[in-house]
Amino acid sequence: MTESKNPEPELVSAPLRGEVSRRGFLSTLAMAWTAFSLAAVGGVGAAVRFLFPNVLYDPPQEFKAGFPSEFAKGSVDERFTAAYGVWIVREDGGFFVLSTVCTHLGCTPNWLPAEDKFKCPCHGSGFIRTGINIEGPAPRPLERYKVTLAEDGQILVDKNTKYQEEKGQWGLDGSYLTWTA
Ligand code: FES
Repeated sequence: MTESKNPEPELVSAPLRGEVSRRGFLSTLAMAWTAFSLAAVGGVGAAVRFLFPNVLYDPPQEFKAGFPSEFAKGSVDERFTAAYGVWIVREDGGFFVLSTVCTHLGCTPNWLPAEDKFKCPCHGSGFIRTGINIEGPAPRPLERYKVTLAEDGQILVDKNTKYQEEKGQWGLDGSYLTWTA
């Protein structure tokens, strides 16, 4: 027997080749669809995220600080310093509320009971307990906030209203709560 000059082609049918190709196409299509879907979901997520941006909520500007009898005479109360940025100072004749913002560049001074003053750690400004600046670069006293008595008898601090000594505002109603009990 002689070998044929034109051997039979490999037995891979054309339809089978077409089927593999179709399968590959469908698989590629599925992957593309999945990728598109994920991208779409991601886009929607980003859009929703954009509708609800990160918001830092400030603490309320007005708050009750408790009853006057809870404050020892002569005390500088630091219970509201971290949350509200104030010191509540109790004198024999009443209360005033100091801002914890240094009037130099805005750092937070520390209350030093042994030295009876506030001392700013940033550039060394010092303030006596009334808030008056006595040393360092701070150009003016600490600010005071409005303090009154709420209907239920608690001390009410309102940071929306502030009083500046250099403007003669420490004598205004609301800058001091008279309380002698
Ligand atoms: S910020 Fe307080 S001394 Fe500068």
